[in-house]
Amino acid sequence: MEKLIITRPDDWHCHVRNGAMLKTVLPYTARQFARAIIMPNLKPPVTTVAEALVYRAEIVQAIPEHLDFTPLMTLYLTPSTTPQDVKDASENPYIVAFKYYPAGATTNSDAGVSAVQQIYPVLEAMQQFDVPLLIHGEVTDADCDIFDREQVFIDTQLSAIVRDFPALRIVLEHVTTQAAVQFVTANNANIAATITPQHLLYNRNALLVGGIKPHYYCLPILKREQHRLALVNAAISGNPKFFLGTDSAPHLTHLKENHCGCAGCFSAHAAIELYAEVFEDNHALDKLEGFASFYGADFYRLPRNTGTISLTKRAWTVPEYYGEKQNQVTPLRAGESLRWTVE
Ligand code: DOR
Ligand code: ZN
Repeated sequence: MEKLIITRPDDWHCHVRNGAMLKTVLPYTARQFARAIIMPNLKPPVTTVAEALVYRAEIVQAIPEHLDFTPLMTLYLTPSTTPQDVKDASENPYIVAFKYYPAGATTNSDAGVSAVQQIYPVLEAMQQFDVPLLIHGEVTDADCDIFDREQVFIDTQLSAIVRDFPALRIVLEHVTTQAAVQFVTANNANIAATITPQHLLYNRNALLVGGIKPHYYCLPILKREQHRLALVNAAISGNPKFFLGTDSAPHLTHLKENHCGCAGCFSAHAAIELYAEVFEDNHALDKLEGFASFYGADFYRLPRNTGTISLTKRAWTVPEYYGEKQNQVTPLRAGESLRWTVE
């Protein structure tokens, strides 16, 4: 039986929600990852250090007792965020970054920023205090095609941010296009990107061919095959600018199987197993550890983990649902087989 032992990985982009949903999903992330960056797009959003500490305490309560897991908190940038908020965040050991959602771009982004110029003083402070900026990189103009929104964001906003704040550390989250891979690769070491399992495994046909498949609907939306291939090449390249971020984003099943279904794929139940399939399919299992366990920690200037996890080549079937009746979440690959098992 094939076996793969790697340093315990971290998830550099994860949604765990709060309340009952948090209790359902958090154990899956805590089971395989040592740390995860927790996204702040709750309702209402997590905008201050004080709110992040309350949220952090709720997460810590939900960690199963035998597991060693550290949540890394982020704050949600709004038009009211001040340079003082940035300074406060920089002085708190539990807060690692700010998240920039263009208003209206995705789930719970209404409180986000509609014009990046609005937050230039805040970006200046982030550069000064060395707090990373995590970006949902999509424009929201009604006349911009949904498949073009990432590329247009790079051309019209990200290039300007990178030009105007050369020392600001930036993560372009969940990249989905060749243009994003090229942009991140071409720019200095302050610019990195996370890549999700769904964008490595699937193109837009998975979402749209043979009927609409709501559990493959996430934002940024799945793209053409040529873009998926560019992402795979980036992930297996060994370039430390590209690292693991699942964007695991649970929604209740009935809110995804809906006339106006929510965006997000729940992948925490099998995150490293899904990535392992991608790396194996591309003859690059030797590159998985760097992507999953080293490069993100290095970018955030945190120590690499010391423990290991062990993956065995043994197939299992993903359940149709996780969670109690009232709280059911349909996972990525529900009812289908996965090749790798975490011991
Ligand atoms: O598909 C997504 N779901 N993309 C995001 O950017 C947000 C996330 C969520 O919170 O559900
Ligand atoms: Zn996300």
